[in-house]
Amino acid sequence: MRTPIYDFVTEYAASDTVRLHMPGHKGQPVLGCETADITEISGADALYEASGIIAESEANATALFGTGRTFYSTEGSSQCVRAMLELARRWWQEKNGTDWKTERPVVVAARNAHKAFLYAAILLDFDIVWLWPEEKNASLCSCVVTAETLEKVLTEKGDAVVAVYLTSPNYLGGMADISALAEVCHQHNTLLLVDNAHGAYLHFLENSLHPMDLGADLCCDSAHKTLPVLTGGAYLHISKTAPRQLQDWGKGALELFGSTSPSYLILQSLDLCNRYLAEGYKERLAKVCGQLETVKKYLAAAGWQVEETDPLRITVKLLCGLTGTEIAGQLRNHQIECEYADEDYLVLMATPENSVRDFDRLLETLGKQKLQCDVTNEPKKIPLAVRAEQIMSVRKAYFSSGEVLPVEQAQGRICRMPTATCPPAIPIVVPGERIDAVAVKCFQYYGIDFVEVVKE
Ligand SMILES: Cc1ncc(COP(=O)(O)O)c(C=O)c1O
Repeated sequence: MRTPIYDFVTEYAASDTVRLHMPGHKGQPVLGCETADITEISGADALYEASGIIAESEANATALFGTGRTFYSTEGSSQCVRAMLELARRWWQEKNGTDWKTERPVVVAARNAHKAFLYAAILLDFDIVWLWPEEKNASLCSCVVTAETLEKVLTEKGDAVVAVYLTSPNYLGGMADISALAEVCHQHNTLLLVDNAHGAYLHFLENSLHPMDLGADLCCDSAHKTLPVLTGGAYLHISKTAPRQLQDWGKGALELFGSTSPSYLILQSLDLCNRYLAEGYKERLAKVCGQLETVKKYLAAAGWQVEETDPLRITVKLLCGLTGTEIAGQLRNHQIECEYADEDYLVLMATPENSVRDFDRLLETLGKQKLQCDVTNEPKKIPLAVRAEQIMSVRKAYFSSGEVLPVEQAQGRICRMPTATCPPAIPIVVPGERIDAVAVKCFQYYGIDFVEVVKE
């Protein structure tokens, strides 16, 4: 597979050209990567008006993922989430022929949404109808939604629905039933948008579990999370069966939220990743998935509760005694760094770039743990998901004057800012909601001491 962006930059870097253009380092190797960091010079194409090397590279990505169109983002899934919602808003407006100002658009969303979704609500001014977790003792990170519930909500909300928005895989690796939920969306002539930030690799499994192959209309992947792409590199996918206009509007929607100086280092890594995916990745992925299955079996045999997750993740639920944070600390002492830990969970993410030695070291460390647990079926510490009352729109709350209060004093007040720890960056209470006693407990659980509320 050709890698046109990388080839162009490599040739340019070797050409001894006098760089009378941005970036300021002029290709001088202070850090070591400057020679390959260029701007939109002649021949380098332009991300938001791509017709040359970037267009060719994006076409490669489109073919690899089998989508209608796949566009690059150099600003992560965060940019793509906003772009997806703008695309859905524009399609909804076109479809209904309604005036944007006279009818409040509604996005139906599973509650475990990343804060980028809330920022989109602030910027685009849509209302949110939350789909609350249907499972018992749900973590903030998970939110199982059934087709029956979605059907009921879509029937109730009718034409006001702009789109349905799901996060899958979630931070703990839980996967939504995309096929069933997509069917419901399409019966209601509604778009399904999926935040697949954690699942770019899913398309390359023997049986794809990628949302685009299961019926999603729009989807974002943080390529940098599970593929060998520099941080910031992401894809916005538009399905072949989605309304054709979405493909035409995709670049404009991304540009609305993007910098006019996209990183060519990130673009090159997305470009090179195409060849990486085309040449033997499926086999390497299958191999590491097999290795991880074995690791999970060993961990389960050693007494750890290993959750059902997407294949490249190991999520351990701590039911007793030790906390996830303590285990993460112990792993750190053995120079093993986890992706995420809280009181109840430990999350580890692997890729084919991890070696067998990495997994051996993990097993050596976790295998040595003495699990003196009083195992019960119910997690003990996890706070119940907050179901706060929405007092005003997300946008109205955000643009109100605010004051910062210690969380203990915030009960009864209206939240102004999406309040979350990062990771997992899932707001506990969203702007416009009243902070109740459960929310205060949840803030404390996640170590949040202060919260910004709307000034009374
Ligand atoms: C579920 C989810 N969605 C979206 C994002 C944002 O992705 P990015 O960091 O690529 O902008 C993240 C980041 O961690 C995430 O976990």
